[in-house]
Amino acid sequence: MKRNVRILSGIQPTGILHIGNYFGMMRPAIALQDEGEALYFIADYHALTSLRDPLALRENSRRVALDFLACGLNPDKAALFRQSDVPQVTELAWILSTVTPVSRLELAHSYKDKIARGATAAAGLFTYPVLMAADILIYDSDIVPVGKDQKQHLEIARDIATRINETFGSMREGQVLNLPEARIQAQTEVVPGIDGQKMSKSYGNTIDIFGDEKEMRKRVMSIVTDSTPVEAPKDPDTSTIVQLYALVASKEEVEEMREQFRKGGCGYGDFKKQLFEKLWDYFAPMRKRRDEILRHQDYIESVLAQGAGRANSIADGVMKRVRKAVGL
Ligand code: TYM
Repeated sequence: MKRNVRILSGIQPTGILHIGNYFGMMRPAIALQDEGEALYFIADYHALTSLRDPLALRENSRRVALDFLACGLNPDKAALFRQSDVPQVTELAWILSTVTPVSRLELAHSYKDKIARGATAAAGLFTYPVLMAADILIYDSDIVPVGKDQKQHLEIARDIATRINETFGSMREGQVLNLPEARIQAQTEVVPGIDGQKMSKSYGNTIDIFGDEKEMRKRVMSIVTDSTPVEAPKDPDTSTIVQLYALVASKEEVEEMREQFRKGGCGYGDFKKQLFEKLWDYFAPMRKRRDEILRHQDYIESVLAQGAGRANSIADGVMKRVRKAVGL
């Protein structure tokens, strides 16, 4: 029997979710929950590579679940769970590591970037992509919605799966692991932060999804711009303001802003105000839903427990196949 397409993605609970997370991964993931069997998890094992505060890790994990639900994840359609509630994933990561060339991991951009920013070269940080491959492969995932920064990790996961299949697959039993595909949306593959670089918790340039009004306004108003005077024409193609506005405004509204840029006579401050209004309104229904969920705290734990149950039953099946294939 052919099974449903399986969709999987994860998010690290290293801090507060920002609109880069939302438009890069959460929004597409929520849209995909209607197109197959969706599994979304909170990557708390991965977060341990940078967060060493148990209280914060636990609280952030709960908060990611809350925010994901507020943004529209429907637990009747998609399983939501903590990575660490499926500890089998670490067993698979070990097995995968036995076929992963160190040279492949040494080329990982995200590892090199973190080391360049002063992170200690811990073994867990180095083998991060192997655990990520295990996350994906343990559910026989077909589609993985992510932002562009995860593209290389997906390539590594496919590479590792291929190596396992070549080493342990057989004519009679077929391939051991399913090859996943990244789903990266061109318009939102890199959402810029307020300094124009990729929006990222570690760059301190984020606009949080659920920050309060004053804070969101302040962040938007501090978007970095050039010093073109109010009356002069401005280039909409290189503007972070226009790029962010396009995420939340209609086509006509974006065209209108682009036209105002080209004409001149309107300052960046006014454009930022327009952007803030749209952003604030865009997330209004989600803030409302979040407040409702907060009144039923037990709901979050029950969703996570239900999701973990579903994830465990799939992971157990795949691990049985893997253990048999490799001889354990
Ligand atoms: P993380 O927690 O850094 O980010 C979660 C998701 O948000 C996307 N994202 C962005 N997309 C567009 N523009 C941005 N500025 C932006 N910032 C973040 C990320 O691409 C990601 O999709 N390694 C992963 C977590 C993970 C995972 C997995 C993902 C662990 N195991 C298995 C998929 C499958 C990470 O650190 O994402």
